[in-house]
Amino acid sequence: MKKIYLDNAATSPVDTAVVREMNSYFRQDYFNPSAKYSDAEDTLKVVEAVRATIGAKIGAKAKEIIFTSGGTEGNNLAIQGLIRVNPTKKHMIVSQIEHPSVLEIAKEFEKQGFEVDYVRVDENGVVDVEAISGLIRKDTLLVCVMHVNNETGVIQPIEKIGKLCREKEVYFHTDAVQSFAKIPIDVTKQKIDLLTVSGHKINGPKGVGFLYVREGVKISPLMFGGGQENKLRSGTLNVSGIVGLGKAAEIKRNYEKVRESRDLLVAQLLEIAGSRLNSSLEFGTSNIINISFKGIEAEALLFKLDKARIMVSTGSACSSGKVDVSHVLEAMKVSEDYIRCAIRFSFDELSRKEIDYIVKHVKSSVEKLRELSPFFEEENNRISKDMTFAELIEEDPEALGKLSGMGLGCGGCMMAQMETIEEGAMAHGLDPKMVLEELQTKKGEKSNGK
Ligand SMILES: Cc1ncc(COP(=O)(O)O)c(C=O)c1O
Repeated sequence: MKKIYLDNAATSPVDTAVVREMNSYFRQDYFNPSAKYSDAEDTLKVVEAVRATIGAKIGAKAKEIIFTSGGTEGNNLAIQGLIRVNPTKKHMIVSQIEHPSVLEIAKEFEKQGFEVDYVRVDENGVVDVEAISGLIRKDTLLVCVMHVNNETGVIQPIEKIGKLCREKEVYFHTDAVQSFAKIPIDVTKQKIDLLTVSGHKINGPKGVGFLYVREGVKISPLMFGGGQENKLRSGTLNVSGIVGLGKAAEIKRNYEKVRESRDLLVAQLLEIAGSRLNSSLEFGTSNIINISFKGIEAEALLFKLDKARIMVSTGSACSSGKVDVSHVLEAMKVSEDYIRCAIRFSFDELSRKEIDYIVKHVKSSVEKLRELSPFFEEENNRISKDMTFAELIEEDPEALGKLSGMGLGCGGCMMAQMETIEEGAMAHGLDPKMVLEELQTKKGEKSNGK
């Protein structure tokens, strides 16, 4: 089997048409667009054409687009740039699930006395708009909420947040690195002031992206030099990268098909016992899912799948190598048992054959890892279908409530009868497996397929 790349949220392969388009800007049309001879002016025209087309993709004017080196720079330029020109405003609101290229800026400014509120998300990973409204103060400069989360794929209600910010006269920045060219963006309708994009998440090249800055919004540059990009981003323009970004943005993608792949993959992965979907399908984008397999270490599963040439991630690529728990799943109040065994699958269209191959290998790898995990054995064997109700209540007093919730009558009667869980379930016309799973679910935990 050839490799199956399921880490497109970390980076994506550059499309052949993009490479082709970029090629001539290395050895043939390599001119510095700031130069004054006619060949260089032609190169400048190409750059300006890309500026106009990618601007149009988000409903922006060409002059509102600043080319950058990608998402990290775009987020820094937006946030730091805004803070520097507004010294009287001392407060900002960012969501708890932002990418480190936003969170680390917030932490850095906190050290300098800037106040930051980290707005919560609900259990589906959706930012609480009401909470943002309650946090906005007189000295609030900016609200930062990403469009699509890179670990869960959850789409945020940016239009509502944009409207709220405009009403309260607070700037709104959104990190659209995982959404641009995948789901529609309209900066006017969604009332966005600043928006970050990166080329390498959309089958474009690495090291290029852009920041949209709404006309009239003032920011200061991070870098000083030749004054390119309207003095906001000095440095010779990355012409081949910009051309590649422009071409990548034009590629037509069939996200309906990607969604079909996602739904099929999720359905099959959730058949693995002890699995849990951390990303909401209802609020999620079509190309990212996050699933936990209880009782294993995500890193160990990643290495096993790598041997089968399946590439996945345990969180954002930028944090791989570190063993930090996911701040995104933590914010969603996923229990630690499930956080440490969470895997992100981010993909393009998948064939049935590929899905079958992925599921087969995830299943067998999870089973093998569980055989090695005393923790999983212990947890799962604690309650079995052959236990009597009396033994069950002794093991877990909270089971009484669960039993009556399932219509299994009064736990006390069951205890008196000394029936096993299996017998009791069948006597009440319930599936013993379902009853057992419910009894094995710990307080605060949710079952599959939310
Ligand atoms: C949501 C989000 N923002 C920002 C970035 C950083 O983008 P770049 O790699 O272009 O600096 C990433 C990359 O993983 C991301 O997923």
